[in-house]
Amino acid sequence: MSKVIAVIGAQWGDEGKGKIVDLLAERFDIVARYQGGHNAGHSVQVGDQSFVLHLLPSGIVHRGKTCVLGNGMVIDPKAFFVEADRLTQQGIEVSPERVKISSRAHLILPYHRALDHTSEERLGNEKVGTTLRGIGPAYEDKAGRRGIRTADALVPDVLRSRIERNLEDANRIIEAYGGERLDVDEIFKEMSVLTERLAPFIADTTHYLNVAATEGRSILLEGAQATLLDVDHGTYPFVTSSTTVAGGAIIGTGLAPQRLNGVLGIVRTYTTRVGEGPFPTEMLEGEAELGQMIRERGREYGASTGRPRRCGWFDAFATRYAAEINGFSSVALTKLDVLDTLDEIKVCTGYKLNGKVCESLPAVSQDLRRVEPVYATLPGWRSSTLGMTEMSSLPTNARRYVDFLSEQIGVEIGLVSTGPERMQTIIVQDSALGGWLRDSK
Ligand code: IMP
Repeated sequence: MSKVIAVIGAQWGDEGKGKIVDLLAERFDIVARYQGGHNAGHSVQVGDQSFVLHLLPSGIVHRGKTCVLGNGMVIDPKAFFVEADRLTQQGIEVSPERVKISSRAHLILPYHRALDHTSEERLGNEKVGTTLRGIGPAYEDKAGRRGIRTADALVPDVLRSRIERNLEDANRIIEAYGGERLDVDEIFKEMSVLTERLAPFIADTTHYLNVAATEGRSILLEGAQATLLDVDHGTYPFVTSSTTVAGGAIIGTGLAPQRLNGVLGIVRTYTTRVGEGPFPTEMLEGEAELGQMIRERGREYGASTGRPRRCGWFDAFATRYAAEINGFSSVALTKLDVLDTLDEIKVCTGYKLNGKVCESLPAVSQDLRRVEPVYATLPGWRSSTLGMTEMSSLPTNARRYVDFLSEQIGVEIGLVSTGPERMQTIIVQDSALGGWLRDSK
C-alpha cells in the first residue's frame, strides 16, 4: 500500500512545519503542496545552510524528491522564479523533472496584488492584515469563475481576453480607491514571458499523483498556513482564502480521499498569530514583556513579511478543535526550548463566554474577542532543553508539560522538536507516526 500523509499546522501558522516536513521528506518520494501560495514562509535549516521557502514544498532541499504544486494553489509566476533562482544559486536543482505545477492551479496576476492592497485599505480598522501577495483576490477570481489557470495562460488568446475582461473590473476598483490604473498590454506581455518559462513545469499533477499512489510511491502533503486560518473552519473573516485543513489536501491535489493514510498535526508549545484577528491567549498588558521575550527567543518574525508575530500561551481548547477537524493521527510538538527560562507556564484549557463554559469554538469573531480563557498553570523547568534528543533527558517538568498538552489535545505526541536543526529532535512514538519517522533524522 502506498503511504500518503498530510502535515498540517494546528494553530494560526508558523508552527514549524518546514522543519518537520524536511525531516519526513527523506522517507517520501513526492512532497506536494495543496493550497495557498507565496504567502507561506517555511524555514528549513540544513547544517549551516538555511532555506526560506514560500511556494515550493520543503522537499525541494532533498535530492531526488519530486515536488508538486497542486491544483488548490495560487501561483505567482514571478515569485516562483525568484524562489527557483535563489535556490539554484544555493545549489538546489529546480527543474521540470523535479517540480511539477498543476495545470489546474490558478495564477496570481499583478492586479491581484493591487486588489489585495485596495481591499485592506477599504477595510480600515477591520483589515485582515494579509500578506498583500494577492492571495485572496486570486481565490475570489477562482470562485467567481474568471480566474486564469496555468494551462489557460499557455493559450495566448485565452490569456489576453481574460486579462482584458478582469482588468476592466479591477481597474474600476483600483482607481476608485486612488490607485494607479493597470495596463492590459503590459500585463499580457509580462505574463506571456513568465508563463512561457513556466510551461515546462506545468503538468496534470492530479493524474500524476494518483498514478504514483497506485504504483506504491509515498506522498507527503505539505499544508501551508494552518487550521485556524482555514477559510471555513478558521477564525473567519480573519483567515486566509484557502482550505488549509486535511480535507483540503484531497481537494487541492485531486488524490482520492481513501488514499490518505494519516495526518500529522504540528503544534507549537505556545501560540502565535501574524496579522489581525481574535487571539484569546495573547500576552497583552501585564504579560507584554513575556510576549516580547518569547518573540525574541523563538525568533517570531514572519518569514514572508518580517512582521513581528503576536505571542500567547498554548491554547489547548483551540488545538483540540484542530485535532477534531483534521483527525490528527499524531502530533509533532515544536519549540519546547523556547519556554526553557519560564518560572510558570499557562495553558488555556477552555473558554468562557458571558460567564458560561463554551462547548465548542465560537463561530463569530466578536465572540472570540470577548471569550475569557480558563487557564491551568504548570511549573516551568528553568534549564536548557536545546538540542535534546531523548525524552529521558528532559527535565521532569518539561516532560510533565509535554504529557499535559498531549492529554489536553487528546492525541499522542509522536515527536518533540528542541531546536531548529534536524538533529535537535526527540522521536517519542514512532508507532503513532506509522513508522514514518524511522531513520528520518
Ligand atoms: P493572506 O493569506 O495573505 O490572504 O492573509 C490572510 C491571513 O493569513 C493574514 O492574517 C496573514 O497574516 C495570515 N497568513 C497567511 N500566510 C501565513 C503564514 O504562512 N503564516 C502565518 N500566517 C499567515
